Amino acid sequence: MTEYLTFSPEQTEAAGEQLAGALAGRPSAFVALYGEMGVGKTAFVRGFCRFFGIDRVKSPTYTVVNEYRGSKTVIHMDLYRLRDEDDLISVGYDDYLGRQAYLLCEWSERIPSAIPEDAVRVTVSRTDGENGRRIVIDGPNDK
Ligand SMILES: Nc1ncnc2c1ncn2[C@@H]1O[C@H](COP(=O)(O)OP(=O)(O)OP(=O)(O)O)[C@@H](O)[C@H]1O
Ligand SMILES: [Mg+2]
Repeated sequence: MTEYLTFSPEQTEAAGEQLAGALAGRPSAFVALYGEMGVGKTAFVRGFCRFFGIDRVKSPTYTVVNEYRGSKTVIHMDLYRLRDEDDLISVGYDDYLGRQAYLLCEWSERIPSAIPEDAVRVTVSRTDGENGRRIVIDGPNDK
């Protein structure tokens, strides 16, 4: 388990960038993000992507899936608007799982059965004040 306490979006981005650096030796990885609305999941993904030279991260709340190409491919998903495994099938989820890429999935709590056992799990929660956040990273080797 790794824990960060952050007090700005930039600090949350930096935590994401650190995780990317720790995972960069792997050909692929699944990063499951958990946490309430507006807590900072997309900020974390933005930092993660920056490590690979990607600077156009947008929330996939409406598109469901965004794909970015940098020095590695990052597939950024958001399950917020999906209900069940049938919805996953209709967005081509299984094909994404088979890709040699990093998959980052916001709102992973929506469809728990969709998350691989060996996912890295990132949970963001609010702490003191408007800008305080706690980020806990669990998972294979707790990067
Ligand atoms: N420490 C912090 N870390 C991250 N974001 C912060 C922090 N403090 C304040 N914020 C603000 O919280 C918001 C986080 O937005 P972001 O889109 O990253 O959240 P999200 O968890 O992806 O939301 P959603 O559930 O809608 O996808 C931004 O408005 C950001 O400025
Ligand atoms: Mg988001």
